[in-house]
Amino acid sequence: MSNHKVVCWDCGCDVDDPFTNICPRCGGLLTVKMDLEKVKEKKPTDLAKEPIGVWRYADFLPVDKKHAVSIKEGGTPLYSTKALGAEIGIPDLFVKYEGANPTGSFKDRGMTVGVSHAVELGVPTVGCASTGNTSASLAAYAAKAGLKCAVFLPSGKVAAGKLAQAMFFGAKVLSIDGNFDDALALARKMAEERKIYLLNSINPFRPEGQKSVLFEIMDQLQYDVPDRIILPVGNAANIWAIYKAITELKEVGWIDKMPMLTGIQAEGASPIASAFAAKTNDFVAEENPETIATAIRIGNPISGRKALKAIYDTGGYSTTVPDAEIIAAQKLLGRREGVCVEPASAASVAGAKKLREMGIIDRDEKVVCICTGNGLKDPDTIINNCEPIIKCANSVEAVENILN
Ligand code: F0G
Repeated sequence: MSNHKVVCWDCGCDVDDPFTNICPRCGGLLTVKMDLEKVKEKKPTDLAKEPIGVWRYADFLPVDKKHAVSIKEGGTPLYSTKALGAEIGIPDLFVKYEGANPTGSFKDRGMTVGVSHAVELGVPTVGCASTGNTSASLAAYAAKAGLKCAVFLPSGKVAAGKLAQAMFFGAKVLSIDGNFDDALALARKMAEERKIYLLNSINPFRPEGQKSVLFEIMDQLQYDVPDRIILPVGNAANIWAIYKAITELKEVGWIDKMPMLTGIQAEGASPIASAFAAKTNDFVAEENPETIATAIRIGNPISGRKALKAIYDTGGYSTTVPDAEIIAAQKLLGRREGVCVEPASAASVAGAKKLREMGIIDRDEKVVCICTGNGLKDPDTIINNCEPIIKCANSVEAVENILN
């Protein structure tokens, strides 16, 4: 028996067509409504028999665990980052390191659920537009499921590691003239004509899997709800997914407080932060987004309105950080904590530092920064921003001279 239905997030009507990503009645965004009545009889420790990871939380997922297409996603470390916290004035600081997922980003959480659902539907071909990580993840899960896969990437500006992954897993890798927003428009057209089954986060099954990062954080903190969760915002589904997870944990009575969801954008790609500054529920799309954090180089975020609700309802915040601060935060995390994240992910840390300096974050807050992707995804940015390698003669003396 099904534990969910798909409804319109805007007008609330039921949506029965599994191939549409917008409401047939009002054109609104879709969402999954979970039936959690049975879960109310459980407590968090009842789930702990299963290893930590996305499918531990199957009670909150709209796909039968028996159909899971899984490469053991989730179960990523939550680091207590004392040295970094001391440096930026937030002693109780944690980093949730999503780079430890199978394909190196949080996208695997949504993709295991999205591709499992695609298999349930019996579709032959899946596809997505992507700034890189979504395509790498979809390509891997499509390979695992034996599905054909096409990924639509903005021409240029996709980090080398992500591109290599999509090629490696055997997807048809299409370079589209334009940016991510253009690539997504084409992928959506393909999906409307039923040529592909779309697995961008406008597909309501994707955020369902992404809820699991919040469930894991709660397990890892023994249900001591953090005051604030900070994350980068691009197409804006992840912050919404985390909000949805929080509301579901409240619904089943497992938490009674909401962490302040805090969305960070790059200065050159910041429609959500601008809407927050203007206190509006909708955003104005940006034509030419630009940032070194290519993962979040997005001007027209599909889930932007949902993201703004997530921020407002939790008493959260949104702001921007310049590229230079993103790179500085990326290095700081590496050099204080030994954690290597990609630029978009470092935006969360740069945002934490900035908001602490502004006094928005109090010194005594318990804060979790979600670092969404592995630094090795984008080796070029790292190499270009570190001290150059040192040419050294093959002698002990030459080495000593350099070390001194
Ligand atoms: N961090 C990383 C590393 C990402 O790859 C993305 C999005 C985000 C943050 C933002 O998440 O879109 O849910 O707000 N990457 C997408 C992609 C757009 O195609 O890989 P969001």
